[in-house]
Amino acid sequence: MAKFDLKGRRALVTGGARGIGASIAEALAAAGASVMIGDVLADLGRETAARLSASGAKVGFVPLDVTKDGDWASAAETTVKELGGFDILVNNAGIEITSLVVDVNADDLRRMLDVNVAGTLLGMKHAFRAMRPGGSAGNGGAVVNIASVAATIAFPAISGYSATKSAVDRATRVAAMESGKLGYGVRVNCIYPGLVPTDMGMKLAHDIVAAGLAPSVEAAVGDVVGQTPLGRLGEVGDMADVVVFLCSDAARFITGAGIAVDGGMGM
Ligand code: NAI
Repeated sequence: MAKFDLKGRRALVTGGARGIGASIAEALAAAGASVMIGDVLADLGRETAARLSASGAKVGFVPLDVTKDGDWASAAETTVKELGGFDILVNNAGIEITSLVVDVNADDLRRMLDVNVAGTLLGMKHAFRAMRPGGSAGNGGAVVNIASVAATIAFPAISGYSATKSAVDRATRVAAMESGKLGYGVRVNCIYPGLVPTDMGMKLAHDIVAAGLAPSVEAAVGDVVGQTPLGRLGEVGDMADVVVFLCSDAARFITGAGIAVDGGMGM
């Protein structure tokens, strides 16, 4: 049974084709929301939407490259058209390109800034336009940005990624402030996931080994677990449940917050 009620809410989840985003889409739908998955992986995105729809929920797919303003405009419009409104945005799409500082590559840094930072800010732009009074959806809402524990503590070989996730963290606060002061009625929060063994999480573990920072993937993962007071890696559902909470009325007085969902790793 859903822990929080999102019946009647209309959500767009970026990067929802797989990993944490797919779990967030599933959890939002289980709580009663209708959901659009926006992703660059069209085949997988459609497949995930069809899988989640099988339980009776309304889950659709819209092609979306979060770095493109035009894609955002049409994804927001499609969400309003397909779902009848737009109340929830989860800015989950992200990329991680591992590098030691001595090997930093400017193109890789620009790519991460583009997806992680510009993608998140463009998403908030279009969500605010749709959700603020007079917008196409016009009834307030909630935005949750997926930052990272890397925005709160140092982890080797991810300096560029950490910088982009720190930027997401700060941009979340500014957006929450603007929305409050300008009366948009949109709450804006972020979460800091710990390591989750998705495609991205496991690639990072392999990269840590390749960078000479751990003798094996098992050792790399073991180091993270050892630094985690709750003694395990994160699961996609750990992230999704907190996102559902932040989107729900139970979080009605929470905005501009960042919640660590990392088993205590970043405390
Ligand atoms: P993943 O790599 O498994 O999935 C990312 C999804 O984002 C994919 O479906 C991908 O196609 C999509 N995506 C990438 N670039 C895009 C673009 N330009 N436009 C639209 N969609 C795009 O990654 P995972 O692990 O599910 O990560 C989800 C979020 O959680 C990311 O923001 C990541 O930085 C964050 N995170 C992940 C952690 C982990 O250990 N897995 C830890 C902390 C944060």
